[in-house]
Amino acid sequence: MNKVIVTGGAGFIGSHTYVELMGAGMEPIIVDDLRNSEERVLGGLEKITGKKPVIHRIDCTDRDAMDRVFAAEKPSSVIHFAADKAVGESVQDPLKYYHNNIGSLATLLRVMQGHGVKDVVFSSSCTVYGDSEDLPVTENSATGQAASPYGYTKVVCEQMLRDVSASDPGLRVVMLRYFNPIGAHPSAHIGELPIGVPNSLVPYITQTAAGIRERLTVHGDDYPTRDGSCIRDYIHVVDLAKAHVAALRWLSGRKAPVCEVFNLGTGQGNTVLEAVHTFEEVNGVKVPYVIGPRRAGDVVAMYADTTKSSEVLGWRTELTLADALRDAWHWQQALGGEGEKE
Ligand code: UD1
Repeated sequence: MNKVIVTGGAGFIGSHTYVELMGAGMEPIIVDDLRNSEERVLGGLEKITGKKPVIHRIDCTDRDAMDRVFAAEKPSSVIHFAADKAVGESVQDPLKYYHNNIGSLATLLRVMQGHGVKDVVFSSSCTVYGDSEDLPVTENSATGQAASPYGYTKVVCEQMLRDVSASDPGLRVVMLRYFNPIGAHPSAHIGELPIGVPNSLVPYITQTAAGIRERLTVHGDDYPTRDGSCIRDYIHVVDLAKAHVAALRWLSGRKAPVCEVFNLGTGQGNTVLEAVHTFEEVNGVKVPYVIGPRRAGDVVAMYADTTKSSEVLGWRTELTLADALRDAWHWQQALGGEGEKE
């Protein structure tokens, strides 16, 4: 039985993972109330896979509703994507983040216990490393100094999983620390759907190239990097999605207890300006930009050591920054002027 509950399966990473799970012969079941997504994602998934997705539109902090889903579906594993992820909003409304992100994981683990489900893959983030000088960061680099309430929810969720795992020897846990996921499915049927003015770099670039935004502001060119702009590890969302299939396969071959963390990045750092110029070159389109002040909370540089994920999971990235920026642009073009969802 390969039924996988995918919370947040209508989101950016969740929807791409849904496609890869289907491709691997698994049976993903989406649990998502679409609060940060849209109906069109389900249509996109159907176009790609040829099958109407199964979705339960519930809030993951609603224990009774989650119980009903588990009773009806009898899954063998769970991938937990559902979470709020806007760094700035988490500073304005930290309780929303602590309630939703920590509450949904606590609820999920209780419901899993009640239904004897033992395998869980959790979406964590490189944000748990804070402003690390230990570059590239390995899974053993220091964590715990996140720069935002959002980041702290990931730190707390990881700790919750370690504690619950220690108390329940049957549990098998994989925590995946994502670096900067970008791009879209090459079919352009699914991609990122930013709400309002994008905070993240690549949606801002694509909306600027499409004329929805006047110009991009590069947040600082006075950092101690090769061109003065910040360095990040941009990973194609399809490569990232494939890592979840690898993680589930790896888990199912393990003897419990397991609680392991993996970095999911390319291992390559690129500056903001390199990303902008690569986008322009690969797509033959201009991105007007100005240099602005540094953005509060940004770390100078962050990129992954991927040795553990490639050696243990047998997974490595196959797509380049240029591939991701080309696919992001195709997705923006498929969206047309609808990029702006307020
Ligand atoms: C951060 C977190 C990441 C988290 C994500 C959630 C870190 C290191 N990363 O990503 O774990 O999942 O938030 O949203 O904490 N930039 C501009 N102009 C713009 C937008 C961005 O110059 O208009 C720059 C930023 O200053 C940064 C880079 O682009 O240097 C990437 O920014 P962004 O896409 O927002 O991601 P992170 O902040 O790295």
